[in-house]
Amino acid sequence: MKFFIDTANLADIKQAYDLGVLDGVTTNPSLMAKEGITGQENILNHYVEICNTVEGDVSAEVIATDFDGMVKEGHELAALHKNIVVKIPMTPAGIKAIKHFSNKGIRTNCTLIFSAGQALLAAKAGATYISPFLGRLDDISFNGLDLIEQIRGIYDNYLFDTEILAASVRHPMHIIKCAELGADVVTAPLKAIMALANHPLTDAGLAQFLADHAKGNQ
Ligand code: E4P
Repeated sequence: MKFFIDTANLADIKQAYDLGVLDGVTTNPSLMAKEGITGQENILNHYVEICNTVEGDVSAEVIATDFDGMVKEGHELAALHKNIVVKIPMTPAGIKAIKHFSNKGIRTNCTLIFSAGQALLAAKAGATYISPFLGRLDDISFNGLDLIEQIRGIYDNYLFDTEILAASVRHPMHIIKCAELGADVVTAPLKAIMALANHPLTDAGLAQFLADHAKGNQ
């Protein structure tokens, strides 16, 4: 399973990358705004900076909502760096744009996936990744993990190449469950990735080992 970090914060990206387990980055307009990255030029420069910080795919989202606008913006984003994946919202215009980019060999991430039908359409259009939003489904009392399982089954039935990129991940159990269900990628905030390392018995065991070593070496 690939690990992406879901942020536009360069320090977090670098910390996760330095761990040696990071395969890519996802951003969205809200995450960019959270870092104070505004204005077209700054936004494009920031994507390039992210691409220069990590090796791996970096999803950069279009703002346009019409087909022509998405195509224009998507080409601009794709031209920034070879690792850019054009992130396109799940709408009819978005599906058309994904098909356009897929025909041109430009990789896409279909975002804002909340149903199996949407995932099926995006795969038919040739999306490289689809991003089902687990946490936001959980927030409205639907089980986001059930959607991952359903999409996995459908993609396996027809051998779709589209990768399931589990998004809107809030905690380490989301990551573990996604791994059990066969999601191809999980994108998560740094906190959820780092939390995978924690266990109180690890802390207690290490403290004991160090104390015993110190006793024996006085
Ligand atoms: C996915 O690519 C999105 O950036 C993201 O995972 C959204 O997560 P949120 O629901 O925590 O905003």
